[in-house]
Amino acid sequence: MSQNVMVTGAGKAVGLGFNLVLRYLEAGDTVVATIRKPCPELEELKEKYGEKLIILTMDIGSTPSVEQAASELGEKLDHLDLIINNAVSVSPDCDKGFFDANLDYIARTVDITAVGAMRVIKAFYGLLKKSEMTALIMNISSEAGSISKCYRTNMIDYGMAKAALNMATMNLVNTFKDDRSINIFCVHPGWIRTDGREDNPAPLSSYEAAGILQDLFEKKRNDFTGHRFITNENEDYPF
Ligand SMILES: NC(=O)c1ccc[n+]([C@@H]2O[C@H](COP(=O)([O-])OP(=O)(O)OC[C@H]3O[C@@H](n4cnc5c(N)ncnc54)[C@H](OP(=O)(O)O)[C@@H]3O)[C@@H](O)[C@H]2O)c1
Repeated sequence: MSQNVMVTGAGKAVGLGFNLVLRYLEAGDTVVATIRKPCPELEELKEKYGEKLIILTMDIGSTPSVEQAASELGEKLDHLDLIINNAVSVSPDCDKGFFDANLDYIARTVDITAVGAMRVIKAFYGLLKKSEMTALIMNISSEAGSISKCYRTNMIDYGMAKAALNMATMNLVNTFKDDRSINIFCVHPGWIRTDGREDNPAPLSSYEAAGILQDLFEKKRNDFTGHRFITNENEDYPF
């Protein structure tokens, strides 16, 4: 059964978001790709897939921008079956440790990566509720957001942001607990060459990773009892 899918942060052709958009279009779904600035490769997909692809401008760091995007989409689609919160922001000091990093960057990373996903869920909730299947929210997290497995001394902003996204997910699991029409997970998507570089040692291309996630998401749609932080291999990951 074809579905209406929205992917945030889809404006980088080598990135995971763009490749998720491509995978769902190839599957015959209607896809909303959210971007901040024009993406020529998405325009090429638009020429090929026509009305099956809706390109929506949305800055998830801005509540008015997210609300505006939701209102625009409401004029084009009557429901959403899946939202993939893929967009992420990292600071220029992401690779630095505590003594060298500018700590004032952290709040912005958390605001976009974690609060941004919540802004999206809140603004598009009305469209999710109109889904005729179990509406699904997949928050793209990272193993770097696991507090119990933390081993790094760098990536402070990114790790804090993904841990916050995981907490947001669990809060919403509680919020939706009596509502079997909506389901939500956070997912470590695997180690991926999202920079598009062949010399990147990560085992998965963005296109390969997107295909694995696409299959996983359908397996999880009606799983209301499992652990909420999972990997692309459908393994439970510790918070
Ligand atoms: N690569 C890996 O091995 C790996 C591992 C674990 C988790 N992940 C996760 O997988 C996801 C995809 O990774 P990626 O490297 O493909 O991501 P990315 O390219 O760094 O970011 C995805 C998109 O987020 C958008 N974005 C940034 N700030 C935004 C804002 N304020 N509003 C809306 N969109 C915004 C960017 O848009 P612009 O193009 O406009 O900047 C970008 O296209 C991320 O959530 C990442 O944390 C990746």
